[in-house]
Amino acid sequence: MDNINQIIRERRSHYPHEFNGLPLDDSLIDTLIENACWAPNHTLNFPWRFIVLKDEALKNWLQLVLNNFIKDTPAEKFNQKKADKIQTYQTQVSHAIVLVCEHDSESLNKQKEDLLAVACGVQNMYLSLSQFPSAGGYWSSGMGTYGIAMHNYFNLKSNQVLMGYFMLGSLDKKRIDSHRKDFRQFIIS
Ligand SMILES: Cc1cc2nc3c(=O)[nH]c(=O)nc-3n(C[C@H](O)[C@H](O)[C@H](O)COP(=O)(O)O)c2cc1C
Repeated sequence: MDNINQIIRERRSHYPHEFNGLPLDDSLIDTLIENACWAPNHTLNFPWRFIVLKDEALKNWLQLVLNNFIKDTPAEKFNQKKADKIQTYQTQVSHAIVLVCEHDSESLNKQKEDLLAVACGVQNMYLSLSQFPSAGGYWSSGMGTYGIAMHNYFNLKSNQVLMGYFMLGSLDKKRIDSHRKDFRQFIIS
């Protein structure tokens, strides 16, 4: 087994422009979701919910993302390159896992913990990708994550919160390099 330090430090976000457009196996998506469910969560209330988008459902959603970008961006801020980039997602992205947090309590502290637990689950997805040399992805909190339009598009209930999307695709080669600041500066003495 690879060294856990190496797995953590070589975990990278890979973006749609890096994907080669080949489809990923559905079993890989199942592995990511199954491992997400092993994340820590307070009182084992399993606050995560997932919607898997692929094929037509993925295309339709990405078309909506593009339409909303065109509709909601003021003319003076409109960037055709960004619109073209979103358009390429339709051919590059294999699956998107819609990340949802479901609250089972009115307590704001509990709800905070639910969100944190889902984030732990997403980290498990990220780390699980290390076992697949030609699959990559990243957590996107763009594409309307915090707006009511997407909440309604996915038929979410009032106790469900959209937390973004895990965008996935096939890679020819993985990037592993990055940098972090010296950890000592984050220790409050
Ligand atoms: C909560 C969260 C939301 C994110 N949303 C976005 C996003 O909307 N767009 C994006 O390009 N990257 C997004 N990322 C990925 C970060 O940009 C990425 O983790 C960071 O650049 C570090 O790169 P690495 O993951 O390869 O170490 C998000 C990450 C987190 C944790």
